[in-house]
Amino acid sequence: MNIILLGAPGAGKGTQASRIEQKYSLVHISTGDIFRANIKGGTPIGKVAKSYIDAGKLVPDEVTCEIVKDRLASPDIKGGYMLDGFPRNLFQAAELDKFAKVDLCLNLEVDTSLLMDRICGRRVCSCGESYHVSTLNGATTCAKCGKELYQRADDNPETVGARLETYEKQTAPLIDYYAKQGKLKTVVCGNKTPDEVFAAVCEILD
Ligand code: AP5
Ligand code: MG
Repeated sequence: MNIILLGAPGAGKGTQASRIEQKYSLVHISTGDIFRANIKGGTPIGKVAKSYIDAGKLVPDEVTCEIVKDRLASPDIKGGYMLDGFPRNLFQAAELDKFAKVDLCLNLEVDTSLLMDRICGRRVCSCGESYHVSTLNGATTCAKCGKELYQRADDNPETVGARLETYEKQTAPLIDYYAKQGKLKTVVCGNKTPDEVFAAVCEILD
């Protein structure tokens, strides 16, 4: 099964991806994580991506599509994968349809008013786990692997505002795109905890 995780910044794509990966053994492919690894490694892709990510804008399609196409050519994805953060506009969705088969688009619907606090309060670990300060009880290390937690460079109010705007203009139209293909399933997250959202996700995936 190949799925897309769709949702605004802070909707919980990464949080659900780690649970889905464990239960369903789908390979988690996050374009945001790939860009951040490239920035950390000082690669040419990282140098291009950084200015766009810092501004809350999309990294150019030709760079992003090539990265995903390459990743999906790797044999480890044969048992199924989930794309987190790709596609992010109609052009990328049309490109993806040319080189991959999508079975389901899982749309995490969250009230926009919750997102700023969620993202600005997020602390992440290099192992991929993410937390919120409100539930860390002062802890500064990862409960899973013990490494020091940190805040993403783009998790500040100004950049988050731009990311939310980019989502509304460029990414939200994908909801219609996948609905028309008959592949859309929406999880209305409301005030559900991550585990409650995951239970709703499992009902769909099972
Ligand atoms: P990316 O890394 O994909 O960031 P994003 O889409 O902005 O999404 P986030 O990772 O911020 O949120 P999330 O939905 O994963 O939420 P999380 O689970 O962490 O992209 C970053 C940048 O890279 C983009 O801005 C762009 O520049 C570039 N980029 C990436 N892909 C691209 C593409 N395809 N094309 C062009 N450019 C691209 O949760 C957030 C917080 O909420 C956490 O603190 C978590 O603990 C908490 N939380 C989660 N679920 C719940 C819940 N149910 N209740 C309460 N709190 C919750
Ligand atoms: Mg994420």
